[in-house]
Amino acid sequence: MKESPTLPFHQRLLNWWDSAGRKDLPWQHPRTPYRVWVSEIMLQQTQVTTVIPYYERWMQAFPAIEALAAAPLDEVLAHWSGLGYYARARNLHKAARRCMEEFAGELPTAAGALATLPGIGPSTANAIVSQSTDRPAAVLDGNVRRTLARHAAIEGWTGKAAAQKRLWKEAENRLPDQRGADYTQAIMDLGALVCTRSKPSCEQCPVRLDCSALALGKVADFPSPKPPTRVSDKTIHMLILRDSQNRVLLERRPPSGIWGGLWSLPEGRSIGDIEKRLGLTTSGLTILPAAQHRLSHVRMQIRPGMATVGKATGVKCTNEQAWFAPAEQAALGLPKPVSDLLKKINTGEYT
Ligand code: ADE
Repeated sequence: MKESPTLPFHQRLLNWWDSAGRKDLPWQHPRTPYRVWVSEIMLQQTQVTTVIPYYERWMQAFPAIEALAAAPLDEVLAHWSGLGYYARARNLHKAARRCMEEFAGELPTAAGALATLPGIGPSTANAIVSQSTDRPAAVLDGNVRRTLARHAAIEGWTGKAAAQKRLWKEAENRLPDQRGADYTQAIMDLGALVCTRSKPSCEQCPVRLDCSALALGKVADFPSPKPPTRVSDKTIHMLILRDSQNRVLLERRPPSGIWGGLWSLPEGRSIGDIEKRLGLTTSGLTILPAAQHRLSHVRMQIRPGMATVGKATGVKCTNEQAWFAPAEQAALGLPKPVSDLLKKINTGEYT
């Protein structure tokens, strides 16, 4: 039998948060729409501790929406480099430019208008509204989904439409009338600090008295696991081509797909294929050790070759293909395995 709590869910949660919640995260001081927005996008697939240094550097470089809109995309991507899922950075940049044109240089604070901007879904829109205006609005990020799936014992994988619909309803039913910003942070903190994926601290939970999964003795069974996704293996060859000034040839990747819009090394199914495509021959080809790189659905093996290029070649210097000296490479948005490789070359580890 569940005991009946005397206070509503939101009141117990806010009381807990007042004593145990996180109140010194950088995006909470000040909680402006722009600062909250950037934090929410960075936090979409990334842990708080990883995000904080990126966030601080971003706010130094782009302290307001005008600065972000005015910056070249490469500079924006360079500040994102290492966080992964680069579409998030491209969308931030695109949305900042849209705000300059359509919203008088401000990020809107109505969920409907926010959700028209690239990269902002319904939960992120509500996270921005609630934290920057203090109006209560339901959020449903990964931590909140897990917490509510347990509290309301919602069956089925939380990515499925039926479970999603129930979760939204449960999230909305629990909202307070006031303190929207603290409530959003509180429900996220509950998931991150107490109702954790493995080994949740139910004895410390402020809403345990009416937690349905706990009453059933089945906390570990909620939420239902995601059906397994198939992981594929992919081998790609990359050519590190250096000219007489020790510059490296880089190519910009197509805007969508893996590492969309980033500068990367020329790649292909073999080093020969890459040479043919570039219309050149190389000299002194050295095969370097293979590197592994894991993306969400792909186990990638990168097989790099390093060579120098002789005299004039078919390589044109354009927005899509250019030579970069070691000092210039640092300012580019590069995929992590490519920047790791170039670092080894520039520090003389591979010669
Ligand atoms: N994830 C998304 N938003 C967050 C926030 N404000 N604090 C901590 N984790 C979050």
